[in-house]
Amino acid sequence: MNSNDFNEKVKRNVAGNFDQSLAFYQAFEAKHHFFAALASTLAEKISLRPNTHVLDVGCGNGISSRTLNERFGCRVLGVDLSSKMVAAGQGELTSENVRLIVGDGERLAEVVGNQTFDYVLYNASIFIFPDVNRALQEAVACLKPEGEIAFSFYPHLAGPTDEDLLIEAFDRVGEPRPRFRVITDYDKACQALARHCGKVSQHRWVRPLDIEFLQDFFSIPAQSASLFPGMDYQARRKKIIHLFSGLSDIADNGTIVWRMARGKKPASV
Ligand SMILES: C[S@@+](CC[C@H](N)C(=O)[O-])C[C@H]1O[C@@H](n2cnc3c(N)ncnc32)[C@H](O)[C@@H]1O
Repeated sequence: MNSNDFNEKVKRNVAGNFDQSLAFYQAFEAKHHFFAALASTLAEKISLRPNTHVLDVGCGNGISSRTLNERFGCRVLGVDLSSKMVAAGQGELTSENVRLIVGDGERLAEVVGNQTFDYVLYNASIFIFPDVNRALQEAVACLKPEGEIAFSFYPHLAGPTDEDLLIEAFDRVGEPRPRFRVITDYDKACQALARHCGKVSQHRWVRPLDIEFLQDFFSIPAQSASLFPGMDYQARRKKIIHLFSGLSDIADNGTIVWRMARGKKPASV
C-alpha cells in the first residue's frame, strides 16, 4: 500500500471511530465541559482577537466552534471528517455565524473555496492527521497574510519529574505499552508548523491528574482505539478503567499537560 492509500485508510477509520463515538462524546462533554474549556484556553493562550474569522479544523460536533463564537464573537466555519459528529453539531447551532460542514482537513482547498481566515485552529484534532505537513500547507493557503495557525494537543500525563505516567500506567498493570498513541506526534506537528510559519510559540495548560476524568476521556471509543488496538469496545473500556485506577496512589503528584503551539503566516506568502 503506498503512503497516500495508507493515509486515506487511516482517515476512513478515524471518521468511522468518531461516527461511533458521538453519544460517548456528548455524555463526556455534558459531565466535564472539557472540550469547551480546552478551546477557550487555546484561544486565551494565543490571545485570539475577538470577532475574527476562524476555520475550526476537526470541529467534531461543534463544541470548539460554538465556544469560539459564543465567548469570542468569532465567525466560525467548522470542518470535520465525521458526518455523524457534524450532523449532531448542526442540530445544536443557534448562531448564523457558525457553520459546520463535512470535509477533510487535509484537503481544505476543496472545502473552503476562496474564503480566507484570520485563524485556522485545531482543538484536539491535529494529532489524528496522517499527513500533517499537507494539512498545514492547506491551512496556510486559506489564511490571510499574517493569519495564525494554532493547535491544542493530545494529553501528556506527567509525573513530578515530567516522566511519562501513561507508560507508567501500562507497566504497573502489566499490559504491553502501546506502539503508538497518536497518528502524528507533538514534535512532528510542531516541525510542520515551523516549516510553514517559521517561529513557533508553545504553551501549556496544566491540570491535576484526575483519575475519573482520564477514565471518562479514554472511554470515548475514538480516544482509546490506539491504546488497546484491535480490542472490542467493552473489553477496552474495562482495561481503561483498570489502567488509570493503577495511578490512584500518585494522582496528587501528577498532572495532565495539554500542550499547544501557534505560528503566524508570513506577510509575503
Ligand atoms: C477529539 S475531536 C475534537 C473535536 C472538536 N475540535 C472539539 O473541540 O470538540 C477530533 C476531531 O477531529 C476530526 N478529524 C480527524 N482527522 C480529520 C481530518 N483529516 N479532517 C477533518 N477532521 C478530522 C475527527 O473526526 C474528530 O471529530
